[in-house]
Amino acid sequence: VTAQAAYYREELGLTVKTVAVTDRSGIKMTETGFSPDELAEFVTAKASGAKLVYHRVPRTRDNWAALKEKVWPLPLHTPILVDVTAADTAPLFMEALEHGFHVVTANKKPLAVPQEMYDEMFRMAREQGLSIRYEATVGAGLPVLDTLSKLQEAGDQVDTILGCLSGTLGYLMTQLEEGTAFSTAVTTAHAMGYTEPDPREDLSGMDVARKALILARTLGLRANIEEIALEPLFPKELSDADPKKFMKKLAALDADYAGRVARARKQQKVLRYVARISRKGITVGLETVPNTSPMARLHGTDNQVVIHTARYSANPLVVTGPGAGADVTASGVLNDIVAIASHADRRAAPRLPALKRKPAKPRV
Ligand SMILES: NC(=O)c1ccc[n+]([C@@H]2O[C@H](COP(=O)([O-])OP(=O)(O)OC[C@H]3O[C@@H](n4cnc5c(N)ncnc54)[C@H](OP(=O)(O)O)[C@@H]3O)[C@@H](O)[C@H]2O)c1
Repeated sequence: VTAQAAYYREELGLTVKTVAVTDRSGIKMTETGFSPDELAEFVTAKASGAKLVYHRVPRTRDNWAALKEKVWPLPLHTPILVDVTAADTAPLFMEALEHGFHVVTANKKPLAVPQEMYDEMFRMAREQGLSIRYEATVGAGLPVLDTLSKLQEAGDQVDTILGCLSGTLGYLMTQLEEGTAFSTAVTTAHAMGYTEPDPREDLSGMDVARKALILARTLGLRANIEEIALEPLFPKELSDADPKKFMKKLAALDADYAGRVARARKQQKVLRYVARISRKGITVGLETVPNTSPMARLHGTDNQVVIHTARYSANPLVVTGPGAGADVTASGVLNDIVAIASHADRRAAPRLPALKRKPAKPRV
């Protein structure tokens, strides 16, 4: 927001103000908007592991109550709630919408709630003329949902979406292909911080399943997370072990994974952890894909979404690139914020007679 402030002001006529920031320690707020220096201070504090709320403002354990009390009533032009937590925030979204806030989220959980609750959330938004935007939930900064909505707006019919939607699992697949044992690959990914603290969160496929559900719902399909045919990367028996024991027991899976990789190679294929979304249903699990396919060329932590539509049938539309990381995720979030702000601004703008446009300034 700070780095782009001048561009927004000069090119789009927008001023994006941050009036409140919150972590689990509480909330900091200012009605006039934080200065760039103050925002930089918060970022530095969080990066060093400190809590956002020091002794300077009253601590509150329940930061949602503070939002309700202090932030909802603020007199703001186009207020937006931005969720970059991994918490169960669907009830908070409902409250925000009720109070006239748009919502931007990088957090998948509130969009993977039961279908009825999801419908209610979007119904509330529609009735109030508010937006819920969530580009960063699938592929971080990659324009996946934006591409889907453009296809739909232009009257194309999306038939199937195939996705490699986890950087962590992508890394594991590349390691397996290069001959690394499954357990070693997971241990390395864990040590490098690619996995969640408990790697079962990634290996269970649940994160990918949530993304698949979000894609499906974006296409207008109705489904719940339990209806997804989900194949985790470890057997059920390992679900209950404590995280350390789990890591030790992973070695028992090495031979099986090495065998799968070898069998796929014989058929000129590679293993990929694929989400498959179509009107027939949603599946998430290991697949073998031909060496010649775009998915086979995927390397390391990159994500890929392959969209088959009526117009892109023989040759699908493919979006590939880094699908995680703070910078690219922030881009996705920021694009959503600006889309809401500029759209709301256009709606609020009075109708003016056509003006001679000044030539656009060259951009560097
Ligand atoms: N990082 C990526 O590459 C990426 C890409 C796409 C989407 N996402 C999504 O973005 C979200 C954030 O990811 P992250 O990697 O930045 O996670 P993170 O490092 O764990 O940061 C989460 C932040 O949310 C705060 N938080 C958690 N619960 C909260 C609550 N109830 N109220 C207020 N603040 C709360 C945490 O505050 P404390 O410090 O006080 O705990 C922390 O500052 C996740 O949903 C993730 O799935 C991330």
